[in-house]
This record gives sequence, structure tokens and C-alpha cells, in this order.
Amino acid sequence: MATKLDDQSLDQLYCAARTRNAWTEQPVTEQQLRELYDLLKFGPTSGNCCPARFVWVRSAEGKHRLAALAAPTNAPKILAAPVTVIVGYDLAFAEQLPKLFPARGKDMQAHYSDPLVAQTTAFRNGSLQGAYLIIAARALGLDCGPMSGFNNEAMDSEFFCQHTHQIQFHLLRRLRIKRKHFPAQPEAGVRGSRTLCLKEQQNE
Ligand SMILES: Cc1cc2nc3c(=O)[nH]c(=O)nc-3n(C[C@H](O)[C@H](O)[C@H](O)COP(=O)(O)O)c2cc1C
Repeated sequence: MATKLDDQSLDQLYCAARTRNAWTEQPVTEQQLRELYDLLKFGPTSGNCCPARFVWVRSAEGKHRLAALAAPTNAPKILAAPVTVIVGYDLAFAEQLPKLFPARGKDMQAHYSDPLVAQTTAFRNGSLQGAYLIIAARALGLDCGPMSGFNNEAMDSEFFCQHTHQIQFHLLRRLRIKRKHFPAQPEAGVRGSRTLCLKEQQNE
């Protein structure tokens, strides 16, 4: 039976955690990123559909491509972050349902053949998976700085639409790790920090 986490763990995940605007020099390793993915993937999604797709951007070239499509205030943060994760979602997620949800996945595919249902489901559950990523990162001692200030259409085209499977992805938001943060939020109090990184590959 599960037990309540201690106060230190709750602080690290929620109460003392802050959104970061700058980073430590500490690198984020590929092993840490794999550990991160292997945690976040357990977060629940409807019918275990897991529609989120993650692009891990670590190279200088990738960061520059990404920063060029970001809001001016966000671009320097992307260039400075050891890793930026683009969180997108796959509108063709239902193709994977027989594998991801053996009990009823095949039967549920017809339900998602309606584009509106598929889009709503992918957006909702992809957003959840982005949140699972943040909390999983915190659990591993890494910080995140979520950002939605970017050109969504251009990001889709630059990072997703050229996918060889011709699956249509839509960008949701991107995440990165950093150390500085904004002044304390109302009733937030003082909080802690750390770092995260990335890699240009998709986990499918
Ligand atoms: C979906 C989302 C989009 C955000 N977009 C941006 C952004 O474009 N630029 C930025 O500097 N911060 C962005 N933030 C950071 C928020 O302002 C920050 O998480 C919020 O103020 C809470 O801060 P705290 O975690 O330090 O309490 C975003 C956060 C979320 C969750």
C-alpha cells in the first residue's frame, strides 16, 4: 500500500519547486534523459493512448533553430539551457492503441477516426504528459522552465512536419531546465532548484 511522501519530497516536487530562468553549469546526461522518459511514461492517459512526442534538443545547431522561432525574451533562455524538450502530440496516436491498450485498443480505434475527437484527445493527454515530465524531472533533481512563447506553426514545420512517417504533429509547448527564477509568487514562499537537458531524437 502506498504511503504519504515525506515533507522534503513534497517540497521538491511541489511546494518549494520553482520555474527556472537560468541554469547551472552542471551537464544533463543522456542517461538522465532516458531515466526521465522512463518515469514520465507511466503517467496515466486515456486508454493509455500516450499521444505526446518529445524532441530532445541539445546541439548548438538545434538550439539556434529553436531559439529563432521563440519569443525574443525566451530565445536567450533556450540558447543557455543544456537541454530543451519540445512536447508535441501525434494526431495518429490511435495507430498504437492495440499495442498500448491490449484490452480494448483495437476496438477504440474507430472512436478516434473522428478528427475532432482525435485532436481533443491528443491535446488533452499530450498536455498531461508534459506535466508528468515536469514532475518527473523534479523527482530526479532536475528543474524545468516551461515556455509557450513561440511561433507554433513555424515550430510544427521546422521540427515535426518533415517526419518521415508523415504523421502530423502539433507543438504544444517546450520545456527546459534552469536555475534562476522569477521573484516569489504570491503565497509561494522561497523554493529550490536544479538542471535538465536534451537530445534531438524522438521517443515513440
Ligand atoms: C504552459 C506554460 C507556458 C509558459 N510560458 C512561458 C514563456 O513563454 N516564457 C516564460 O518565461 N515563462 C513561461 N512559463 C513559466 C510561468 O510563468 C511559470 O511557470 C509560472 O509563473 C509559475 O512560476 P513558479 O513555478 O516559479 O511558481 C510558462 C509556464 C507554463 C506552465
